[in-house]
Amino acid sequence: MADKLLSRYEDLKAQVNFHNYRYHVLDAPVISDLEYDRLLNELKKIEADHPDWITPDSPTQRAGAKASEKFEKVRHPAPILSLANAFGADDARAWFERVKKLDDRVEKAKFVVEPKIDGLSVVLHYRDGQFAQGATRGDGEVGEDITSNLRTVKAIPLRIPVSQSTNLPIPKTLVVRGEAFIPIKDFEKLNRKLEEAGEKTYLNPRNTAAGSLRQLDPQLTASRPITLLVYQIVSSEGGKVPTSQWEILEYLKSLGFPVTDISKRFDDLDSAIAYTETFKEGRDALPYEADGMVIKIDDLTLAADLGFVGKDPRGAIAFKFPAREVTTALLGIDVEVGRTGVLTPRAALEAVEIGGVVVRNATLHNFDYIEEKDIRIGDRVLVKRAGEVIPYVIGPVVDARSGKEKKYKPPTKCPACGQEVEHFEGEVAWYCVNAACPAQLVRNVEHFVSRGAMDIVGLGIKIVEQLIEAGLVKDVADLFTLKKDQMLTLEGFAEKKAENLLGSIEQAKGQSLNRLIAALGIHGVGEVMAGDLARTYGNLSALSKTTADELQQIEGVGPNIAESIVDWFARPANQKLLKKLKAASVDPQMKTDEKKKEGAFTGLTFVVTGTLPNFSRDDAKEFIESNGGKVTDSVSKKTSYLVLGENPGSKFEKAKSLGVKIIDEAELKKLAG
Ligand code: IVH
Repeated sequence: MADKLLSRYEDLKAQVNFHNYRYHVLDAPVISDLEYDRLLNELKKIEADHPDWITPDSPTQRAGAKASEKFEKVRHPAPILSLANAFGADDARAWFERVKKLDDRVEKAKFVVEPKIDGLSVVLHYRDGQFAQGATRGDGEVGEDITSNLRTVKAIPLRIPVSQSTNLPIPKTLVVRGEAFIPIKDFEKLNRKLEEAGEKTYLNPRNTAAGSLRQLDPQLTASRPITLLVYQIVSSEGGKVPTSQWEILEYLKSLGFPVTDISKRFDDLDSAIAYTETFKEGRDALPYEADGMVIKIDDLTLAADLGFVGKDPRGAIAFKFPAREVTTALLGIDVEVGRTGVLTPRAALEAVEIGGVVVRNATLHNFDYIEEKDIRIGDRVLVKRAGEVIPYVIGPVVDARSGKEKKYKPPTKCPACGQEVEHFEGEVAWYCVNAACPAQLVRNVEHFVSRGAMDIVGLGIKIVEQLIEAGLVKDVADLFTLKKDQMLTLEGFAEKKAENLLGSIEQAKGQSLNRLIAALGIHGVGEVMAGDLARTYGNLSALSKTTADELQQIEGVGPNIAESIVDWFARPANQKLLKKLKAASVDPQMKTDEKKKEGAFTGLTFVVTGTLPNFSRDDAKEFIESNGGKVTDSVSKKTSYLVLGENPGSKFEKAKSLGVKIIDEAELKKLAG
């Protein structure tokens, strides 16, 4: 019986690892998320019952314990070399001529072209097919042991060959080298999330990947979208010994490693150069940042015989793309008011061409960044435009200063409405919290009428913009006093459309208090907290008179959110808005007949973060509440469980620091029985 279970366990590990590979390496899953979850759950169940069976290659063992103070040093089995650069076709041909003189075989050599990804060089060790160690490049001789962090990178196989059906012998030892990186799209998604949470955004994918891999806490690395591509065998024993670079790529691929799918082999250098040059224009289409292509002599014996110049092998060359960093003058700093009221500084630059695009503006990330980098108006600044990433200012060229440059002071008032700006403890961003700020008005109204808030059917963004542009709506309360003849003045409005819209607006007057509170868009107050506030205070008038201390008695309300709520209600512009709403009969009182459901989760409090595989946020909330549990917006010591999805936010960090139990969607379902 135990034997049978053990073999099922082995089978499950192999299956889950294989499906991980299909998903993360090949980007071609062959089963649904639900089926994957089922396999993983079965595996976890067996491991819970038989913890002594767990092996390091189990897919459940990716994120391990925190590393101590620093990383251990690792001596590489062979030097981890660098590459000489070629800046254009002439340089590449000159390299060819040089090496031709050293060896006649070069004349007839074949070439492999690969992308030169701008990431972090890593060295992965496999012993008897098991991923045993992973290191940074370091100085090329000795790197740092970042095994625990690399284990969290799902594209790295924990066991090779990944597919049992390849029949490839398991090499006794295999050390491979690759480049770890964050794809551009994932990087931007990560930054968007940070920005929405008022947290510091990352500068570029490369630094983020490198920084994340050098974190002491693997859980943190696991939350970053790092992937990798491998391209070199550093040393091997007992496996296949490829004789060409092309064979290396094929062999590594067959073992289950992620290998680039744009490399090609050519019979002569000119064809290799021609292919390389297509990426000069086409680099933006690559899903990662690449600073060039690598042209490698295919024959490994020949390449090795050619030797090195310092740390650069003669058998390969980095064909660099034109730099996308240029210097230009910083003429001024504009401040934009973003979607969530966040104030973002933007550099106004003397127009400059970067990689065929004229750049006049670049992001300065946040006000702290300007201060930290000591960026001054009038400075010559280094600007980078890479891939699809928004151009950004790297920093000032201090040596080019004339002394006339001026230090920059962040605004204390919103540039759009003139109201004082606010800062929330623990966040880097400055906000304009004025609900009637014209820069935010469209966004505010859009949020106010949205499905999760007042749910005004038929009032889409287009109409919101029309109403604001025509001056009919200056704050959300104006919606409730709109007249039919006013609407008829708008383009595309006839009797029927105006009547329908007025009907939905009228209906919205009866929306519940929690919806209205959520609709106000108070910083830090989502749908869940709006429900808690509604239940506690019963109406807007009582809520507007509360204190920060009183608010903190509510589960999930910490000092920052309490302050944000009190502050919102204290603002004269917002008080005026509340009066207008009341005058328009928008003043819901909480229904008191809401009985709590009893169930497996009674007495338990949950916080959900990240994207869950099957549940939407609303589904998860409904599921938890239908089982008697409570869902709150923020993690506190009182939180019973954090339900963790893909790409979680800062709640994940907080839960870990408070020692809150962390579960995934499948475990949540299991917990409900
Ligand atoms: S080959 C002998 N191939 O570029 C092997 N390097 O500037 C020498 N890199 O430190 C390296 N993609 O981190 C090679 N396809 C690729 C590469 C690549 C990125 C990085 C690598 C190296 C740097 C050299």
